[in-house]
Amino acid sequence: MNREPASLILARQTLLAALGLAGSGRQRYAAAMTLFNAGKMDDQALEIYRICSPLDQEDPAPLLAAAGLAAPAHPDESDLGRGLRLKTLLAECDRYLASLSGPGIAEVRAGLAPSLAARAEPLLRPSGGANVVLADHLGAALTALEATHPELAQAIAITAADLEWITYGEYPPDEIGTDFLTGHAYAEMVGPEGPLFAEDYDLGIFLIAPDVLYRDHHHPAPELYAPLTGPHGWRFGQNDPLTIKPAHVPVWNPPNAPHMTKVGPLPFLCIFGWTKDVQLPAKVLPAGDWPELEKLRIAPEQS
Ligand SMILES: [Fe+2]
Repeated sequence: MNREPASLILARQTLLAALGLAGSGRQRYAAAMTLFNAGKMDDQALEIYRICSPLDQEDPAPLLAAAGLAAPAHPDESDLGRGLRLKTLLAECDRYLASLSGPGIAEVRAGLAPSLAARAEPLLRPSGGANVVLADHLGAALTALEATHPELAQAIAITAADLEWITYGEYPPDEIGTDFLTGHAYAEMVGPEGPLFAEDYDLGIFLIAPDVLYRDHHHPAPELYAPLTGPHGWRFGQNDPLTIKPAHVPVWNPPNAPHMTKVGPLPFLCIFGWTKDVQLPAKVLPAGDWPELEKLRIAPEQS
């Protein structure tokens, strides 16, 4: 596997963000700055990305070529190339889950096994467009993760652009709150809507912006969270006090059990697994202390 840090892999992928998407010029310039600061891009190329930063439609490649500079290399965009990258990521997720212990882990790994055993398949779905939560927060989460789990961080960085990242809009906005509504994104990897199909099983990656409160809710699907960053706050009953958990401590939510997540100073990045009843909707559970919890800031060292 490529040994380049995940943050640089992600930056190289961001240079290839689709032209014309709102904010994509700024995202390419930020990625170019990351590479420049790491000594992986010269100042002439950086200047071209700076010039193009307010111009979302402008392709920097012809300007780079005119200056005698190399354009960023595109990864294999064929369906099979994307399928192989996803397969690598799923294998890393399974290896990670195997390192944990606790309820639900065996069930989630059992649901993943058919996808791991199958030959790499062309993906069922095209990758989605840009997602602002991903662009703003995945880099910081992966930088933290790669200190302890470099292969997993690299596999997520390489595959992120292949996945369809969804900022879920089905919760009533006044119940779930605008911080969460606009501050999260998830990508299904295996499931009914995923690039690899499973009828009643879901495995994916979930990202929430720092300090956001994911208010109390429940759903019929049993759910595993395997948080790759931390610390974050949790509770499993409305109005209960918060419990702070570090990264790499899995959380299992049995069917219809209430749960709430308060994101800490780092973006919340986790592998999630739903083992059945994945099509049944989640429901927000009212609690009286959301205003204080939304203002709360968890300290980095609190774990
Ligand atoms: Fe949940």
